[in-house]
Amino acid sequence: MKKPKISIAGCGFVGLVNAAAFASRGYEVIATTINKEEADIINQGKTPFYEKGLDNLLAKAIKLNNLKVIEDNQQAVQNSDITFISVGTPMNEDKSIDLSYIEKVSEEIGNGLADKEEYHLIVDRSTIVPGTTRNIIGKSIEKMSGKNPGTDFGLCMQPEFLAEGRAVEDTFFPDRIIIGEFDEKSGDILYELYEDFYKKHLENCPILRMTLESAELVKYGNNCLLATKVSFANEFANIAELVENVDINQVMEGVGLDYRLNSKFLRAGAGFGGSCFPKDVNAIKSWAENDGYYPKILNAVLEINKDQAYHMIEIANELIDSFNNKTITILGLSFKPDTSDMREAPSVKIINKLLTEGVNKIKTYDPKAFHEAREIFEDKIAYCESIEEALKGSDCCFLVTEWDEFKNLKPSDFQKNMKDPNLIDGRRIYNFNEFSKNLNFRAIGRKALKK
Ligand code: UDX
Repeated sequence: MKKPKISIAGCGFVGLVNAAAFASRGYEVIATTINKEEADIINQGKTPFYEKGLDNLLAKAIKLNNLKVIEDNQQAVQNSDITFISVGTPMNEDKSIDLSYIEKVSEEIGNGLADKEEYHLIVDRSTIVPGTTRNIIGKSIEKMSGKNPGTDFGLCMQPEFLAEGRAVEDTFFPDRIIIGEFDEKSGDILYELYEDFYKKHLENCPILRMTLESAELVKYGNNCLLATKVSFANEFANIAELVENVDINQVMEGVGLDYRLNSKFLRAGAGFGGSCFPKDVNAIKSWAENDGYYPKILNAVLEINKDQAYHMIEIANELIDSFNNKTITILGLSFKPDTSDMREAPSVKIINKLLTEGVNKIKTYDPKAFHEAREIFEDKIAYCESIEEALKGSDCCFLVTEWDEFKNLKPSDFQKNMKDPNLIDGRRIYNFNEFSKNLNFRAIGRKALKK
């Protein structure tokens, strides 16, 4: 089979990882972005943000001369056979989904198809509320191109399940592929592409074919269920803190062993963040509410998550009465390890709250997220170059993100650097008994040891 030429609209972490992955396996790929500076950076083989493993993959793609980034979607469509849409679908002020990038890119794809004779397949990868692929993307392409879906162009919706920090691995080794299809022909073409791309991996990776709308809702079902597990674990962590000798880590390990469940996404902590869970739970909740249904569980999931980061401050208040004039250390700024993304990160809520409490200084350290943090906090906080520097002279330390390099710290590291060794483990990475014996230590989901 001759490899189809691919174009990908959007160079965010989904679009760019996919573009580099296809290119590294010999497909000719044109990716597009509206940002010229970003296009230049990628064309030089450099990544515009940190994502584990992407630098090597991108370097390979550029070296093979299979990947080019341009700014023109029309041109990208005219020079390819399949177009993937991977543009952002952020949250509006009212927390509903903002589809403006989807609308714009669909029109441009439609314009590109107007002068093209050959059949073209369009595949949406962006997370969109049910009905959007058919009624907005499909209709807009039809209008702008004067062509008919099914005969002149195909339409698919394939939700992506890439987690940040694991996006490269998730792209090469997905656990499933969901193909929502307008008609059989559209689905067949995408199916064949993945047979060629994944080969043997498909023995362990089912491909499910379904309607466009079902595929759209699979993504929300998936993220809402995972977010529910996290808020469920956090609610139980709060219950655990009411009782002597209960440890949430032990509890969720026990719960997760039920053969109908597993312990993934049952880790209690400072709450979920990132670009997906908060946005997607809110988007499908608003969508349902607009249609007259109030989703009680999803509202509770968000409610629990809203309070969870602040709960770390409540716990800290058991150790120090007031933050006034205190020096505070924040270890970890990104919403989770292995990414520099700070969108909806618990660290942002915690720092903003502490800034209203009259603190003397907030010293932060994160292995990768300094650039993102500076954009948010400018000179309101200090950005340290090492853990030691961040701990020096501090009255209280919040462990907010579980980066590997924090996991190896010993009680003595806190004792020798801090003015007063108060530590709150917001991700349950430290041995509770060992740390409690040596430090003023508190942790999510575990009542303090009696001294
Ligand atoms: C998620 C989905 O996993 C992915 O399939 C989807 O495509 C996009 O959204 P991502 O946002 O990158 O990916 O992060 P993920 O690793 O899923 O974590 C989400 C949040 O939940 C993070 O804030 C994380 O810290 C939190 N979390 C996760 C917990 O608090 N406890 C857990 O046990 C697991």
